[in-house]
Amino acid sequence: MRSRIAVLASGGGSNLQAILDHFDWLGNRRGGDVVLVASDRTNAGALERAARREIEAAVLPTDKRPDGASLEQLLSEREIDLVVLAGYLRLVPPEIVKKFEGRIVNIHPALLPAFGGPGMYGSRVHHAVLEAGVRVTGVTAHFVDRVYDRGRIIAQWPVPVFASDDAGTLASRVLRVEHLVYPRVVDGVASGRTTLETCATANTDAVVDSRPSFTLLPHEDSRLAENIELTLGC
Ligand code: GRF
Repeated sequence: MRSRIAVLASGGGSNLQAILDHFDWLGNRRGGDVVLVASDRTNAGALERAARREIEAAVLPTDKRPDGASLEQLLSEREIDLVVLAGYLRLVPPEIVKKFEGRIVNIHPALLPAFGGPGMYGSRVHHAVLEAGVRVTGVTAHFVDRVYDRGRIIAQWPVPVFASDDAGTLASRVLRVEHLVYPRVVDGVASGRTTLETCATANTDAVVDSRPSFTLLPHEDSRLAENIELTLGC
C-alpha cells in the first residue's frame, strides 16, 4: 500500500514538482502518491502545479481569510499518512505535529542546526550564510517536531559557497540539490524505509558527499543523484 501524501507549500512549489517528477520516474516502485497540496497563499505556484496534475489543491484558512476546511480536517478527511513541508512558511499546529510524529518532514536550505530557527527562511538563510563567510552550506531534510528546524535529521548534503556568490546564485545552487535530495527522502519515508528509528543515530555513510573536490558543476546532477541514492539506500 502506498502512502497518501499531503504537500504543504507557500511558494513556487519547485520541490513539489521535483517530488512529482521523481515519483513519475519511479513508477510503481514509488512509496507514495501526492493526493493533496495545501497552501496558506491563494496565489502559490504550488497550487497551480497541483491543479495541472489534477491533484486536489486547497487554500488553508488564515486569520484574515478564515473560510475553508482546516488543515487538521483536510488531513483526516483525505486519510493522509505523510505530511511533506516544501517551503511552507507557517508553523504547523502542535496537535498536528504530535499526531504525525515520524510522518511529517521538512527541507531546509542550509546545514541545520546552523542557519535555522524562527525567521530563517528563504533568502534570509542564504544572506546569513554569506555574511558568516562559511565556505560550505547545504540542505537538510528532517522530521518535524515541536521545535522549529530541530527535528531529527534524515539527510544532509553539502553545497559549496563560492567567493563570487550572492544570495541568488547560492539559493539556486542549493535548490538544485534540494530537488535531488528531497524526493528521495520523501520516497524513503513514504515507503517505510526511513523512520525516526532508522535516523536515531548518525549514520556516517548517509550524510556526505565524500568527494573532496566537490564543485557541483552543471553536468554533475546525475552523479550526485546516484551518490544520494547510494547513501540513502534507495
Ligand atoms: C526551498 O528553498 C526550501 O528549502 C525552503 O523553501 C524553498 C521552497 O522552494 N523550505 P519551492 O517552493 O519548493 O520552490
